[in-house]
Amino acid sequence: MTDYIPTRVLTVDPSAPDPQIIAEAAAVIRAGGLVAFPTETVYGLGANALDERAVARIFQAKGRPATDPIIAHIANAHQLDALARDVPPVAYALAQRFWPGPLTLVVWRRPIVPANLSAGRATVAVRMPSHPVALALITAADAPIAAPSANRFSRPSPTTAAHVLDDLAGRIDLVLDGGPTPVGVESSVVDLTVDPPVLLRPGGVTVAALRELLPDVIFTPRYLTADGEAAPAPGMLLRHYAPNATLIVVEGGRDAALARIRHEALTAISAGKRIGVLAFDEDAPELSDLPVQVVTLGPATDPEKVAQRLFAALREIERAGVDLILVRDPGQEGLSLAIRDRLVRAAEGRVISAEP
Ligand code: TXA
Ligand code: MG
Repeated sequence: MTDYIPTRVLTVDPSAPDPQIIAEAAAVIRAGGLVAFPTETVYGLGANALDERAVARIFQAKGRPATDPIIAHIANAHQLDALARDVPPVAYALAQRFWPGPLTLVVWRRPIVPANLSAGRATVAVRMPSHPVALALITAADAPIAAPSANRFSRPSPTTAAHVLDDLAGRIDLVLDGGPTPVGVESSVVDLTVDPPVLLRPGGVTVAALRELLPDVIFTPRYLTADGEAAPAPGMLLRHYAPNATLIVVEGGRDAALARIRHEALTAISAGKRIGVLAFDEDAPELSDLPVQVVTLGPATDPEKVAQRLFAALREIERAGVDLILVRDPGQEGLSLAIRDRLVRAAEGRVISAEP
């Protein structure tokens, strides 16, 4: 158990944050405290990245294993060179193109970076977020800010301040409530310390966009069980986003997948189970005759909308108290690759095919 901390909430204008509120939050960071704040992807749980004790508090508040390293968030390009050495030219090109924005670069760590931030690795992950509140906070704190997603370990990432409070109220000092986060899935994480570079996590920057500057980038999704072989990259464990129910991703063409979802739902219902379906908007009417809880994800044709809603939808269907959740595979095009990745993790790798 961590000690109880009264968690304050301050509302900020997401596009023009009040400098006084930002100064208050920055003072908490400088004093070694924990501040949850909005980024364009998801809410982060921030602490001074150069303060080993403050970083340790992040792990404790989240219940995060010390083996999973944390991203350092910066507000100007000079901070990259302060944290990292031997930064390859392509890193600057990527930064130029995608920062501020949802891209995280794994580079070689300088000794100034506390070892616990990097979970003892020789590398450090760095990103410059584009959210005005995040940028203002990092600038006012006058230090890079360490921030994992502001959820308890293995819970869906938070896209609202309410999600943060659900998981972390009483465990952190302050939440800056800047409304829902615009992207909704986390940053893409690229390891530039290996050749060829490896996409460790698909996210807000698509593979196609990355390939324009990193034509040889590799992405081989691996969904390892907690007791499986040693994870090639941290944070690749299954159950990372697992809700409290079994989730199954159904692959295949739309009609076949919907038929399979119907079949799986009816079979489970006759076994006395309560069923939930995470449904694309256009699929929901086709399921309306079934005694299932439907939570909509947005239009299948609009992955940006689905990404925005995804984690809120996972939390919502979890609260519905169902035993089994079914969801149709969103595909892998553009942002859908990141959406699919989060769903497959929440499903602990349970993917079934609707095609014969
Ligand atoms: O969009 C985001 O990236 C959000 C916002 C708050 O910036 N942050 C986030 O942090 O998603 P977190 O800790 O939930 O996920 C960071 C991922 C993890 O999979 C972690 O293992 C990986 O980045 N990571 C961090 N440092 C690393 C390193 N040095 N080497 C390899 N992977 C690293
Ligand atoms: Mg996370």
